[in-house]
Formats: sequence, C-alpha cells, structure tokens
Amino acid sequence: MDSQLKPRILFTRDEIEAVVKRLAAEVSQDYQGKCPLLLGILKGSFVFMADLIRLLDFPLEVEFVKVSSYGRGRESSGKAKLVKGFSSPVKDRDVLIVEDILDTGLTTSVVSDYLREKKPASLKLCALTDKPSRRRIPVTADYLGFTLPDKFIVGYGLDWNQKFRNLPDICYLE
Ligand code: IMP
Ligand code: MG
Repeated sequence: MDSQLKPRILFTRDEIEAVVKRLAAEVSQDYQGKCPLLLGILKGSFVFMADLIRLLDFPLEVEFVKVSSYGRGRESSGKAKLVKGFSSPVKDRDVLIVEDILDTGLTTSVVSDYLREKKPASLKLCALTDKPSRRRIPVTADYLGFTLPDKFIVGYGLDWNQKFRNLPDICYLE
C-alpha cells in the first residue's frame, strides 16, 4: 500500500532553505547574548533542528524529547505522553521548543507542561509548519515557517509510518 502513495512537492528545498534562514534571523535577534536551550521534539524535528542551529552563531545547547501521540498512519489517538525526557537543567534557562509541525497542538502542550514545571526563565516555540485547521488545543508558534493546508505532509524529517523522512522537499501524499 505504501508504494501507491506518491509524494508531491508542496515546498521545495530552496523554499525551505529561505524560510529556515528567515526563522534563524528572527531567533538570532531575540537570543543573541543568551545561551538558550533548543529542545527538539523527536523524531520529526531532527532535520529542521540540524539546519536551524547551523545558522545560529551564538552559544546554545540542544536536547530532544520524544512524545508518543500518533500511532501508525495519519490519525492521532487523541492522547499524547512524554516517553523520553532529558536531564539538562531547565530552571532559569531560556528554552526554545523546536517542532516540525503543529497539528492538533497536543504534542506541544505536553512538552510545554513538562517544561513549565521545571521553571524556565522563558519558554517559546519555533515551528517549521502549522496546520491551524486541525487545532484542538490552543497553541501558537512564536516563530513560524509555513502555514499548511489540511494535507498530510512528509519529507524534511516528517514521516508517514516512519517512511519519507529523507525527502529533501516538503511533500504531500497523493
Ligand atoms: P499534534 O500533537 O497533533 O500537534 O501533532 C504533532 C505531531 O504529529 C508532529 O510532531 C508530527 O510528528 C505528527 N504529525 C502531525 N501532522 C503530520 C503530518 O501532516 N505529517 C507528518 N507528521 C505529522
Ligand atoms: Mg511523526
């Protein structure tokens, strides 16, 4: 069945590069002179994180958390829980969550709740993509790349059943 799904380009690698540059400039303005902790949500954010941090020329640290929300396929179970945390101190740090996509908002809200308990100095969200039409929990990105139509996307780190993460463009499945 996987083989019948054809990825069609929604945003090219060049468009992604331009948007990541724009986001890096926005983040740089706000965090220059600080040493933020960039917290990626696995697995989808790893490609975006890798490109973003290489455009930031100030001291920073990187950590990752993992949240299980999606099962296999496209539909969310409606529940999300943190399945991998991290041990770097968060108290009084500037923390920037780095996410591949804001969909229902469940994943991001689980991570925000987890972090807020640790009393960071500041907490912001940088999302590469946003599907506002699907939102169930009100979350908004402080830094946002692309706003998406209600299509399931893959590529640039994003998967469908763990496949397609390696596509250099952001695609939708047909
Ligand atoms: P949320 O918890 O519903 O906001 O979903 C966030 C997570 O679901 C993301 O981190 C992705 O891993 C996954 N996800 C949501 N929409 C898509 C999509 O269109 N393509 C691939 N993964 C998605
Ligand atoms: Mg995923």
